[in-house]
Amino acid sequence: MRVTLFMAFSVNGYIASEDGSEDFLSHANWNEFVRLAERSGCFIVGRRTYEIVKKLYPASYNFDTVNARRIVVSSKPAPKSAKGYIFVRSPEAAIGKARELGFKEVLLSGGSTLNGSFMKKGLIDKIIFDIEPVAVRSGISVFSKADMLTRRLKLIRIRKLEKGIVQLHYAVIS
Ligand SMILES: NC(=O)c1ccc[n+]([C@@H]2O[C@H](COP(=O)([O-])OP(=O)(O)OC[C@H]3O[C@@H](n4cnc5c(N)ncnc54)[C@H](OP(=O)(O)O)[C@@H]3O)[C@@H](O)[C@H]2O)c1
Repeated sequence: MRVTLFMAFSVNGYIASEDGSEDFLSHANWNEFVRLAERSGCFIVGRRTYEIVKKLYPASYNFDTVNARRIVVSSKPAPKSAKGYIFVRSPEAAIGKARELGFKEVLLSGGSTLNGSFMKKGLIDKIIFDIEPVAVRSGISVFSKADMLTRRLKLIRIRKLEKGIVQLHYAVIS
């Protein structure tokens, strides 16, 4: 199973403000997420990302509208409202579920805690980062410090997107 992480963040590495909002990011990043999720056919997010996106952005960032299977990682049981979402208990279970559904690749997209978990366990093969041309005062990092380990990456591609966004593609090599 090939796992690709996709995240958008400020030039100083924040994926969201402290309150979880992502207002400093352009909608172009969401479009890119949708393109990549639909291309792989399946995406994985953490429970807080699932809840925050549904609460803060029900119209503009709606996971329900993405034409892909949706997996949420949480240590808790799925809420009754989570129709259309598969809840699993660990990163390994998320990958196992994607495999069981017949996928050969899956898109991981946050948040910080889940990214750190996948990275620490060596479960990420490729990374795509969108760098938004904005610096923000404080926020949530791409990888949570608590769950992170140092990993070496190899730069494989650079793309310039609309709104001055730079997209970097990396392979995780060790
Ligand atoms: N800019 C972007 O590209 C982007 C993309 C995605 C998300 N975000 C932002 O990221 C923020 C959320 O990040 P976050 O770090 O607070 O939360 P998160 O990573 O989305 O979710 C954390 C939760 O996921 C579950 N989880 C994580 N690792 C686990 C593991 N190893 N085993 C079992 N469960 C695990 C736990 O759920 P339980 O507590 O239920 O056990 C944990 O509390 C939001 O503000 C969101 O908007 C930004």
